[in-house]
Amino acid sequence: MCESGCTMPIIGILSQETISLESRNLPKGLYRSYIAASYVKFVESAGARVVPIWIGRDREYYRQVVKKTNGILFPGGATWFHEEKGYGEAGGFIYEMAVEENKAGKHFPLLGICLGMELMLYLEAKRDQQLQSDCDSFRVSLPLHFVEGYQKSKLFSNASDDIIDILSTKDVTLNSHRFCITPEKFTEYSLHESFQCLSTNTDLNGLVFISSYESIKYPFYGLQFHPEKNAFEFVASQAGYVNHSKEAVAVTQYFANFFVDQARENKNSFSSVDEEDRNLIYNYNPLFYSLLGGNMQQIYVFNEEENRKEINIEKEENI
Ligand SMILES: *[C@@H]1O[C@H](CO)[C@@H](O)[C@H](O)[C@H]1NC(C)=O
Ligand SMILES: *[C@@H]1O[C@H](CO)[C@@H](O)[C@H](O)[C@H]1NC(C)=O
Repeated sequence: MCESGCTMPIIGILSQETISLESRNLPKGLYRSYIAASYVKFVESAGARVVPIWIGRDREYYRQVVKKTNGILFPGGATWFHEEKGYGEAGGFIYEMAVEENKAGKHFPLLGICLGMELMLYLEAKRDQQLQSDCDSFRVSLPLHFVEGYQKSKLFSNASDDIIDILSTKDVTLNSHRFCITPEKFTEYSLHESFQCLSTNTDLNGLVFISSYESIKYPFYGLQFHPEKNAFEFVASQAGYVNHSKEAVAVTQYFANFFVDQARENKNSFSSVDEEDRNLIYNYNPLFYSLLGGNMQQIYVFNEEENRKEINIEKEENI
C-alpha cells in the first residue's frame, strides 16, 4: 500500500445528480448520479485507479472517502450547488475534510474542473452564489493568458517549455461554461488571500474570467477548461470544438500526470485489497451515452441499489 508515498494512487471522483441529462434522453428516475467516463480515463491514463464517490451520503461517508483515497477530482457538469443531497453538498463535506487533512500535515490534493473549479471558490466564498458571473464561453477552445507569477506556481513550474508554449499560443483549452469567476469578484470575495490566479481568458463578450488557479496553502487546483476532453471526448456534438491535435492531447496528459503525481505524495490506503476492489469503478460499466443522443460519449450511471455494495458498508450497518 502507500506507507512511503503511493506509486499506485486511487483517485475519488465525485458523481453528480443526473438532472441535466434527463432532457438528453437519459431514462428518467432510473439513475441517481453519473460520472463522465472521460474523467475516469483522464486519471487512469496517468497511472491511477478510480473510486466513484456518491452524492447524498452523510458526513462520515465522506470522511472515510477522504481517509482512504489519495486525492479527489471534482468534475465538470451542470447542477446547482444548493441541490439537496447533491454534488454541492457532497463537495462541501469533502472540501472541509481535505482542508483538515492538509492542516494535519497530510498532502491531500483536489482538482476541480469547470463546475468543480467553481465549486471550490464558491465554498471558500461562504457559499455566496453572487460570486459567479454569467459567462458566454461555450464550446470554444482557447489559449491561456498566463498571469504574472505563474512560472513559480506548483501547477506550472515543472511544465516543459513546449507545454507552456502550446498552452499559451494554441487553441487547446476547451471552455464549456455559462458561469465564471472574474478577477474582480475574486478580489471582492478575498479569494486572492487563499488562491493564486494563474491564468485568465476572455468570453465572447469580452468578459475576463479566471481560467486556472491554485491554493496558496494546500494542493488544491482549479481549471475552468476541460483538459480531459482533448484526449477522451469524441461526442459528435462537440466535434470541431474539442481539439484532438497531438499538442492538445499533450495538454491532457500534462494535467493528468500533474494531478496523479500530487496524489502519489499522499499515503492513504484502503484497509485491504478486498475493500479496494469493492470500491473501484471496475464494478460498473459505462453507458454509450451518445448513442442515445447524450452530450458525452460515455458516462457511468449509478443507482441506489448498486451503490450499496461499496465503501464502509460495515460502518453504515453499524450506525
Ligand atoms: C518539480 O520537479 C521536482 C524535480 O523532479 C520535484 O522535486 C518537485 O516536487 C516538482 N514540483 C511539483 C510541484 O510537482
Ligand atoms: C488545435 O490545436 C492546434 C495546435 O495543436 C491548432 O493549430 C488548431 O488551430 C486547433 N484547432 C482547433 C479547432 O481549435
